[in-house]
Amino acid sequence: MSIRDSLSFAQKVLSSANISEAVIEAELIWMHVLNVSRHDLYLNNFPNVTDLNVKRVHEILSERLTGKPLAYVLGLWKAYDVDLIISPDVLIPRPESEILIERGIEICRSGVFGKSPVVVDVGTGSGSIAINLIRNVPNIQLFATDNSKRALEIAQQNFKRFGLYERITSLHGDLLEPIFVLPDLVIANLPYIPSRNIDWLQEEVRWEPREALDGGNDGLACFRKIAVESKSKLNNCRGVFLLEMDPPQIEDVVSMFRTEHPKVEFDVIRDLRGLERVLEITIGM
Ligand SMILES: C[S@@+](CC[C@H](N)C(=O)[O-])C[C@H]1O[C@@H](n2cnc3c(N)ncnc32)[C@H](O)[C@@H]1O
Repeated sequence: MSIRDSLSFAQKVLSSANISEAVIEAELIWMHVLNVSRHDLYLNNFPNVTDLNVKRVHEILSERLTGKPLAYVLGLWKAYDVDLIISPDVLIPRPESEILIERGIEICRSGVFGKSPVVVDVGTGSGSIAINLIRNVPNIQLFATDNSKRALEIAQQNFKRFGLYERITSLHGDLLEPIFVLPDLVIANLPYIPSRNIDWLQEEVRWEPREALDGGNDGLACFRKIAVESKSKLNNCRGVFLLEMDPPQIEDVVSMFRTEHPKVEFDVIRDLRGLERVLEITIGM
């Protein structure tokens, strides 16, 4: 079978199961099985794929048709610049969280916190934010926390995968509680979905760990806590928080931080769909 036929076969199987991104998923499956980039998939003159390749694709397709998200089936998923180990113990990294990475890189490079800022990735999950950050700004002192031991184990596997295990201090615990150095920059993609909405999410999202999604009664539980922590946990009482959230939550989170700090400024960063997605909170500066 040619690669073109193989791709279109996978795509048809996925489409017939109503998988919306069938074309992209078929490509990702073949890229994974042949271990090639998208560019090579289309432009390289491939010899016909082997029976073993086809068998592996069939196995992946039948697991995918159970409803399990492709990231968990493949066990590897692209987050910003890197392919990370992913399991159902961690959230599948989302494109909108790349705003946190890009803005984090800009702040660290700006020099506003000196040459070696202390940065915390709170709720690191797979480690996607921490890894992409330190690969782009290697001079930072980086901490990654999560209150899920199983998530932290996946993050540590990813830190090792990129030779960063010694460079990122990973700590188990609640929000900023385990941090023993006062940070300049706190980056967090914490759970922000109200508990009652979890059961109504798309079926695939329900494969993801509940503790990565469930933000308590109103979705704001983690923000409420971290706003209080921001009072005692910042270097010289000054610093920046970058928090991902749902657009309607911004107003509430702004008022939580206003209550805690006499001098605080806010900026909102929109995602690729134009939605207000990240709140940048500058404290005491
Ligand atoms: C939405 S996921 C984000 C994972 C990763 N940062 C990303 O962007 O892909 C939230 C993560 O925060 C962790 N988490 C939830 N509540 C927490 C808390 N109170 N303290 C620390 N981590 C928490 C979850 O275990 C999960 O790994």
